[in-house]
Amino acid sequence: MFTDRISRIQPSATLAMTSKAAELKRTNKPVYNMSVGEPDFSTPKNIQLAGIEAIQNGYTKYTPGGGTFELKQAIIKKLKRDNNLNYTKEEIVVSCGGKHSLYNACQALFQTGDEVIIFKPFWVSFPDFVTVTGAKPVFVETKDKKQNEPNFKDLESKINKNTKGIIINSPSNPTGGVWSDDAISRLLDLVKNRSDIWIFSDECYEQLTYDMPFKSIATFSPESKNIITFQSCSKTYAMTGWRIGYLAGDEKLVKAISKLQGQSTSCPNSIAQHAAVEALSGNQNCVNEMRKVFHQRRDLILKELNHIPGISCEKPHGAFYVFPNFKKYLNSKSSNDSIIKTSSDLSLYILDSTGVVTVAGDSFGAPFNIRLSYATSDENIIQACKLINRALSELKN
Ligand SMILES: Cc1ncc(COP(=O)(O)O)c(C=O)c1O
Repeated sequence: MFTDRISRIQPSATLAMTSKAAELKRTNKPVYNMSVGEPDFSTPKNIQLAGIEAIQNGYTKYTPGGGTFELKQAIIKKLKRDNNLNYTKEEIVVSCGGKHSLYNACQALFQTGDEVIIFKPFWVSFPDFVTVTGAKPVFVETKDKKQNEPNFKDLESKINKNTKGIIINSPSNPTGGVWSDDAISRLLDLVKNRSDIWIFSDECYEQLTYDMPFKSIATFSPESKNIITFQSCSKTYAMTGWRIGYLAGDEKLVKAISKLQGQSTSCPNSIAQHAAVEALSGNQNCVNEMRKVFHQRRDLILKELNHIPGISCEKPHGAFYVFPNFKKYLNSKSSNDSIIKTSSDLSLYILDSTGVVTVAGDSFGAPFNIRLSYATSDENIIQACKLINRALSELKN
């Protein structure tokens, strides 16, 4: 009944866990949701007000397909101010979230016969963005003790004449890893003679680095035409539901994507675009305040996880996730003698026995890990880690 295209993609594992958490909440059982992929803060007041003003002042009509002039101007200024990047409005497309920008770019650039490199562990949507185009995702190993930077030997062996794209996501979902300047330079150096390979830099967590300043990948090679920068208002301004993301890159690509978008969504939401101008151009204190809170929570969750025997967790430099390794607990038995074989089994066991919602590493290409989001209160973090510890202590070898 449905096309091949639909059978090539999987439902989003993270969204599935979000609905599971909502289901559990409806039964009035205590739920500790450590699966969330969005800030637990409200959208800052000045941005809310800009949205209200947009409705009241008639910004409620179709806009140009690739985004309003005002928002593109705000993005140009933001990219200069925060990232030291120079773009013109012909090099920017605004879309319905960063996810939509990434999806559009894959649609415009990849097709059957192409290969696209994705680093493991990966954000759940990357392989699906690629497979839906008919291209093949090619997975490259990373070093979990080094912020999940690439294993360069593996990367070199996987680049071939069919390689058409490389997707980078630093800071990363799910690991929180932030690549060093060295790793980025080495990767760019490796493909410097391959102008046919598009470098996707998904920078949606750019404002959430804790131990070092963030550097946009395009700044490493300003003359390159084939680096695409993807950013979003979602995580930076707690605007996940507003659905505003954008990309900056080659003018011809931008034209192609604007054409595609014009025939799919017509344009991004007009009210959200108006609010996004305020987000990007208004007072940025909210960004610094949220970063400060996430930084404290990152340290808190690492301290709490330290009390759990047998798991190992690297210190991630960014985003709002930790990605501990639970290998020791795989193949153990629960009190009713069912065997916990996979990280999905373990995540479900934790959910059923404690009400703590997590996302299994299986869906991120990491079979021994579980992702915990710390976009939640200190109390939740402390209680969730305690409960996980107790549930694990009840497992038998
Ligand atoms: C790595 C990564 N990229 C992109 C996105 C898309 O975010 P949005 O579409 O809300 O901008 C997410 C959201 O979870 C993400 O984690």
